Amino acid sequence: MHHVFISMDPGIDDALALLIALKCKNIKIEGISASYGNAPLEDTFRNSRDILSMFDREDIKVYKGAKKPLVDQPRFPGDVHGKNGINELQIPSSKAPVEKKDSFDAIYSAAKRLKGELELVMLGPSTDFALLYLRYPDITKYIKKIYIMGGALLGGNRSPQAEFNIFADPVSSEMLFDSNIKIYMFPLDVTMSSFFTEEELQEIIKTDNKAGRFIGDLTTNIMDFYLTHTGKKYFYFHDGCPLIYLENPSLFKGYNCTVKVESYGKLTYGKTICDLDSDIKFAGKKNAKVFLQVKREEFFSFCKDKFSSY
Ligand code: BDR
Ligand code: CA
Repeated sequence: MHHVFISMDPGIDDALALLIALKCKNIKIEGISASYGNAPLEDTFRNSRDILSMFDREDIKVYKGAKKPLVDQPRFPGDVHGKNGINELQIPSSKAPVEKKDSFDAIYSAAKRLKGELELVMLGPSTDFALLYLRYPDITKYIKKIYIMGGALLGGNRSPQAEFNIFADPVSSEMLFDSNIKIYMFPLDVTMSSFFTEEELQEIIKTDNKAGRFIGDLTTNIMDFYLTHTGKKYFYFHDGCPLIYLENPSLFKGYNCTVKVESYGKLTYGKTICDLDSDIKFAGKKNAKVFLQVKREEFFSFCKDKFSSY
């Protein structure tokens, strides 16, 4: 069983990833930390709570995480996920009590209670990790692994060389990759291969169950955005990858290597630098396993099964 605390910024693909995780028998969600990212914190916090409530899982607690990057100001991609993070949808408000604790205290308590078994899943900027680490430097003893959607070995989607989550706060990402906790990284190189075609997305929507209808409402605009930017009318399921890996690792192939983050380059700001294909390796123990391949058709079938089960 994977005991996970999920840091996320819903976010359309974050929302779908959460729906998958709720249906995975090998995943126990110990809590959710809502972070700024795809939208401001107030929106991602409300979205996380309301989505859980919509799917009758108010038992999972949502805490507030980071409001902005460690240095710099947040920049929200209103054109991808809509200004409120969920395609401008208005969904019924959760009636769960609002957690007063912030997520850093909540994660630390869970990590100590689980005695080294807690894993972090990071689906947004890395700031939640940095703030946790700055408040509780000994957290590194209690976190088993970190699974992160972020970075890119080749190219980028937020700049020619950087991926959105890392570009949002490279200083925090640098702390995460240098923390000595083993990182399982799902960069754009694999998440851009983890897509649904337009027809496949329609198959999910046509199930016409609660998840299918919600996914239909969430995705009315995002594929046109991707068509403009990638030339393909696909739904790229970036944030699904780490959670799907936990339930079915055989879908992905990864490589042990060392990854570092460029936090001040002019053209490479937010770039993840990996020594996998270079003659010269970074010194010391390899800090990451980087996933580069996915069995795409099986990935889609896996997701379709999970969404159909609602
Ligand atoms: C990442 O950026 C966000 O817009 C998505 O939710 C995902 O976490 C992909 O680069
Ligand atoms: Ca995200």
